[in-house]
Amino acid sequence: MSSLWYKDAVIYQIHIKSYRDSNRDGYGDIPGLIEKLDYIESLGVNCLWLLPFYPSPLRDDGYDIAEYEAIHPQYGALADFQRLLEEAHARGIRIITELVINHTSDQHPWFQRARLAPKDSAERAFYVWSDDPTRYGGARIIFTDTEKSNWAWDPVAGQFYWHRFFSHQPDLNFDNPAVVEAVKDVMRFWFRMGVDGMRLDAIPYLVERDGTNCENLPATHAVLKELRRTLDEEFDGRIFLAEANQWPSDVIPYFGDSDECHMAFHFPLMPRMYMALRQEDRSPIVEILAQTPPLPNDCQWAIFLRNHDELTLEMVTDLERDYMYREYARDPRMRINIGIRRRLAPLLDNGRRQIELMNALLMTMPGTPIIYYGDEIGMGDNIYLGDRNGVRTPMQWTPGWNAGFSEGDQQALYYPLIVDPPYGYQAINVASEERTQTSLLRWMRRIIKVRKQYHAFGRGRFEMLLPENRRVLTYLRRHDDQVILCVNNLSRFVQPVEINLQRWKGWMPLELIGNVRFPVIGDQPYFLSLGPHTFYWFLLVAPQPDGAGS
Ligand code: GLC
Repeated sequence: MSSLWYKDAVIYQIHIKSYRDSNRDGYGDIPGLIEKLDYIESLGVNCLWLLPFYPSPLRDDGYDIAEYEAIHPQYGALADFQRLLEEAHARGIRIITELVINHTSDQHPWFQRARLAPKDSAERAFYVWSDDPTRYGGARIIFTDTEKSNWAWDPVAGQFYWHRFFSHQPDLNFDNPAVVEAVKDVMRFWFRMGVDGMRLDAIPYLVERDGTNCENLPATHAVLKELRRTLDEEFDGRIFLAEANQWPSDVIPYFGDSDECHMAFHFPLMPRMYMALRQEDRSPIVEILAQTPPLPNDCQWAIFLRNHDELTLEMVTDLERDYMYREYARDPRMRINIGIRRRLAPLLDNGRRQIELMNALLMTMPGTPIIYYGDEIGMGDNIYLGDRNGVRTPMQWTPGWNAGFSEGDQQALYYPLIVDPPYGYQAINVASEERTQTSLLRWMRRIIKVRKQYHAFGRGRFEMLLPENRRVLTYLRRHDDQVILCVNNLSRFVQPVEINLQRWKGWMPLELIGNVRFPVIGDQPYFLSLGPHTFYWFLLVAPQPDGAGS
């Protein structure tokens, strides 16, 4: 059972740079993160996903890796990372790191070697080169705000090299078996050290073929299966998490026949949660889940509200994208590439009820929830910072010096703190929220705790119920004999709902957050009234022989 730990996990996504600076240089570091493990444990999460912390010129915040088997000196040393693993594991917290293999930094020695080596040499063949920059013309451009082509000219090599992301991130050549072997060694290095899982960054784009869009190709899946074989042969209980920003039917192959990735992000679900909330109508969520095929038994979706990137709108229709921009990104500065660069609280206009409802959905939808650091306290963003940096500002710990993030100079911080009301660190910070019973932080702890008490949320089957009122999103989560009913009011007004629960006539709904007993299910549809944006989680309790269940 414990090999399925990722199904019961609640994941917390952290950038080491942004979390806590222990040596006053203005950048968060691994020792700083270790200092904060008690806080992380108190939040109730049991898995960390760490953004890249490897040596890098940091032109894509570390997703441009210059050395795979080392730590960026700004963040610490390998010994610090080893200690982080030990201290996290001692608290029952697992760690997922990044395996960024689609591309490297142009500063990586493999690339430097490749451009200097002769055409057709083994060294050159680590990357994808061409004399013709129109090749693979069917591949779309991902970073539409910065890149015009997926090819860049390298004067040293005298050829064009292929890059799906920034032009300083050349793509590795996965048609070259030596690349696959090199990547396996990277993976072994971190798994041997003790990491529990790796997120496979930008995985749909590993292999290119003429006449295709160069995404999700069979040859790409073959590489993933080979990596998975190595993982299964050499390591126990470790996982791959796929970042494949694709439609559900294109993501399913990344689970393979349980022989590729254990988990994959559900990208299309995420924007539809925001749409459903703003439209006060469950249809977007109902429709996308209806289009989501079932997964192999040991596979799992990873679900999220926000992350370190823009809120991507690639997996919606043009009309839906216009709607999302209009509703959630009126100021053009809030937009980037094909998405919205804002944090959860500002997206929801700091509406406490809306923030709670979205988190309640996150905890109960089919999959493992991921919380982006700072969203548990309702942090704001800074749309005046470039790229996606506005959602990567320092964690706000206290109302004091540098928000408790760093004792260094204020001007040394890698990015300025959020200061403007209502999100400024003077008000929004961990210490203040610890002092307030009703704070978002304390509320988050409570729902995370409830989520972890019931396997049905992580492992259970999902069954959508469709009572007449479309402003109410209702579903069951079932695992063994555990039945949980979730009822969510997407509307800003009170709503009635009548739910057909005849299958459980005589059972008693027990509300899980307050342990409140509700009237036993009778002959009539079960009637509930819901306040604006409220939700209920009920455990359906079978009648006890002595009548205790009624
Ligand atoms: C992934 C990362 C993103 C990065 C990109 C290129 O999409 O999430 O932050 O910029 O890969 O490496």
